[in-house]
Amino acid sequence: MLNVGIIGLGVGEQHIAGYLRHPACSVVAVCDIADKKRVMAQAKYPDVRVTADADEILTDPKIDVVSIASYDNYHYEHIVKGLSNGKHLFVEKPLCLHQHELEHIQALLQDRPHLKISSNLILRMSPRFRDLKCRIQKGELGTLYYIEADYHYGRIHKIHHGWRGSIPYYSVVLGGAVHMVDLLLWLTGDSVAEVAAVGTNIGSKGSCFKYNDTVVAILRCKSGMVAKVVANFPCVHPHFHALSVYGTKGSFINGTDHALLYTSHSAGTIPEVISTLYPGVHKGDLIYSFIEAILNDTEPEVSSNDVFRVMAVCFAIEQAARNGTVTSVCSVGEFNDGTHNTVWQADYRRGRKTGRA
Ligand SMILES: NC(=O)c1ccc[n+]([C@@H]2O[C@H](COP(=O)([O-])OP(=O)(O)OC[C@H]3O[C@@H](n4cnc5c(N)ncnc54)[C@H](O)[C@@H]3O)[C@@H](O)[C@H]2O)c1
Repeated sequence: MLNVGIIGLGVGEQHIAGYLRHPACSVVAVCDIADKKRVMAQAKYPDVRVTADADEILTDPKIDVVSIASYDNYHYEHIVKGLSNGKHLFVEKPLCLHQHELEHIQALLQDRPHLKISSNLILRMSPRFRDLKCRIQKGELGTLYYIEADYHYGRIHKIHHGWRGSIPYYSVVLGGAVHMVDLLLWLTGDSVAEVAAVGTNIGSKGSCFKYNDTVVAILRCKSGMVAKVVANFPCVHPHFHALSVYGTKGSFINGTDHALLYTSHSAGTIPEVISTLYPGVHKGDLIYSFIEAILNDTEPEVSSNDVFRVMAVCFAIEQAARNGTVTSVCSVGEFNDGTHNTVWQADYRRGRKTGRA
């Protein structure tokens, strides 16, 4: 049996169902700094230890796996403590908020190759996007040349009034567009060479939210494919992942009820309606694969390498939006040398560092 502890009982509470689905898991402790959440947890899960102190979970030798679902600004310190104490970690996105933190996490993991770390990049589990990936692999869309991936947040109150507006730093790229960057890399198997980006906070004028609430990034991939990734937080629009994938043989356009697949240039051709479930995911859906990976020493659905690559692209977007420069995404070993605006992209596999991807 693997003993599990969970830190943060917002989306973290939904992780419980994910762990319970695996017969080799037992959730033994949960943690929240809010009194109300601890009272709720004690009543709802009477056999589970409830604490206000994350260290109690991160340093407990009887706990094997920790879900980190605290506010974004705590993830890094919880990860460092968790890895240092031999825990496997399932971390809510974003993994961390700064590039130097990512580098440190990678170094810690490199010294502990027996530990697993993953992140809840949950859109991969959406039946709609899994269906799309199969179609891309079967060649139904031909050679991909352009992707638009817009994250419409649609819940402005959460950045203007909740913790997102009051923690020391919040990024709509790391907090939202990260899902679209993951979809882009996972669907195509491509990697990103360089990015340009601009941002605005017009939608948050007069609120306590001090950072860009909207960022638009243009990406050039290694294959030559181009993409646009957007984090659009203040939109007057329901929460939605506006994904359009264009290939030489077909175009996939996501919609709320269904997606459309166009496979003919002829005007008036009726597109195929794709009605696989969207989003159709539970926030704990990646956990089964994470536990299997720990038990069998295999890679989970979202590997550490996947997470590092996605984060590196997000940090490049952040840097490009901040500096107004085109920013390269690099592999391990290509640290910013002061002459190029490069952002480190890990290609870390079991302690092996590789050259430029
Ligand atoms: N993967 C996804 O699709 C997804 C969706 C929503 C949120 N998230 C992520 O989950 C994390 C939590 O967001 P949320 O929406 O659940 O917020 P939330 O406010 O609903 O819940 C967070 C809970 O964590 C507790 N908490 C915060 N910091 C803590 C700490 N240091 N120690 C113990 N408890 C702490 C808070 O008291 C709160 O109860 C964020 O990182 C967010 O980005 C991911």
